[in-house]
Amino acid sequence: PRLTIVTRAGDEHVIDARAGYSVMEAIRDAGFDELLALCGGCLSCATCHVHVDPEWTGRLKPRSEDEDDLLDASDHRTEESRLSCQIELDDGLDGLRVTIAPED
Ligand code: FES
Repeated sequence: PRLTIVTRAGDEHVIDARAGYSVMEAIRDAGFDELLALCGGCLSCATCHVHVDPEWTGRLKPRSEDEDDLLDASDHRTEESRLSCQIELDDGLDGLRVTIAPED
């Protein structure tokens, strides 16, 4: 799937990602170093926080309780907040647009 990534500075980048990987991995592998993803996707750091375009929020699988709890610790939580390591890519997510959330 093709993703649009918006950086903290507001720059938009379209990247090609592979199904089966997470959005976090796709962003990291494309070389964005502002998405720290410190825990590597094991749901314990919340430094992979992104804001999903409102058009997409209802099309993703719902947050798990653990993801929800971790997001609660962020000052930048919104309705569109997700941990990008918890969004698994498939072809149905082609066109997904996410913005890297401000650093906490
Ligand atoms: Fe740590 Fe997503 S990479 S919670």
